[in-house]
Amino acid sequence: MPSGRIGDERSQTSLGIVASRNVGIAGTADAAYDLTMKRLAGRVAAITGGGSGIGRSTAVRFAEEGATVVTIDLDAKAAAATSEIAEQHGGTCAWYESDVSHHEAADEIANDIVERFGSLDVLVTAAGISVGKTVPDTLPEEWDDIFAVNVKGTYLWMRASIPRMSSGGSITAIASQLAVSGGISNAAYIASKGAIVSLCRTAANDHAPQGIRVNCILPGATETPLLERSFARFEDPTPYIERSLSRHPLGRFGKPEEVAEAALFLASDDSSFTTGTELRVDGGWIGG
Ligand SMILES: NC(=O)c1ccc[n+]([C@@H]2O[C@H](COP(=O)([O-])OP(=O)(O)OC[C@H]3O[C@@H](n4cnc5c(N)ncnc54)[C@H](O)[C@@H]3O)[C@@H](O)[C@H]2O)c1
Repeated sequence: MPSGRIGDERSQTSLGIVASRNVGIAGTADAAYDLTMKRLAGRVAAITGGGSGIGRSTAVRFAEEGATVVTIDLDAKAAAATSEIAEQHGGTCAWYESDVSHHEAADEIANDIVERFGSLDVLVTAAGISVGKTVPDTLPEEWDDIFAVNVKGTYLWMRASIPRMSSGGSITAIASQLAVSGGISNAAYIASKGAIVSLCRTAANDHAPQGIRVNCILPGATETPLLERSFARFEDPTPYIERSLSRHPLGRFGKPEEVAEAALFLASDDSSFTTGTELRVDGGWIGG
């Protein structure tokens, strides 16, 4: 039994049989695409940090596309709520209360997922924390905490998942546009996101022969509790909000649902020839 707490056992089976319709696509005479097939039907997806924001939206989107969705989060109430919401959108859902930086827990939960649901096909690592300080202001223990959750948590969940992806799989880490562009007053966080990008690039090379694709998403500022907390650190957040908005050529912040759409692309066969890449969902921040 995993050391993390496990979600309730209500089994929801909304993987309904959808009447299939084969449609030939012009120019691809032999290709027949089943447009009604849910894109993650039959897949088991683990989402760390699924209790809130980007992770929660991803859980819901994956459930809509027929996945069995397993939410892993430090916050049990939030993880349970995500499971409940995702179930309402279809899909079999479960949750675990767990700290992603704990080595044994990742391994035990991944094992439990395979025992309960038969496979582990998709991993999205969205658990992340930020402290919002320059290098001199960052305490060594804050640095360690950020790296423990953001980098070690990503590594541990990859480590637990890869050997269990026996028929191939897809891993997507949520990094940040700041990993490429840099930023201000967020040294440990941005360094951790750079490490995640490098980790994904090398894991993509190592595990391509096993049919495991590894990619990153680089979201821009996205309307989630994490973003709210990062602005709330300033006595007067207005200039920081305005500065951040002005860095997005699209002139607004992203929505977690928009990041979830990218996560779905990377998790599904729609991206079957995509590995080792960083997908920007940043409103144009990096290019702007
Ligand atoms: N929101 C943004 O503007 C933005 C931009 C770029 C990248 N990101 C990244 O996207 C990811 C998701 O962020 P979000 O904005 O949805 O944040 P969020 O705070 O809304 O959600 C993060 C979730 O991770 C969980 N979590 C934190 N520490 C954990 C731990 N040790 N173990 C397990 N779960 C833990 C939290 O409980 C929470 O449910 C993060 O990695 C973040 O760095 C966010």
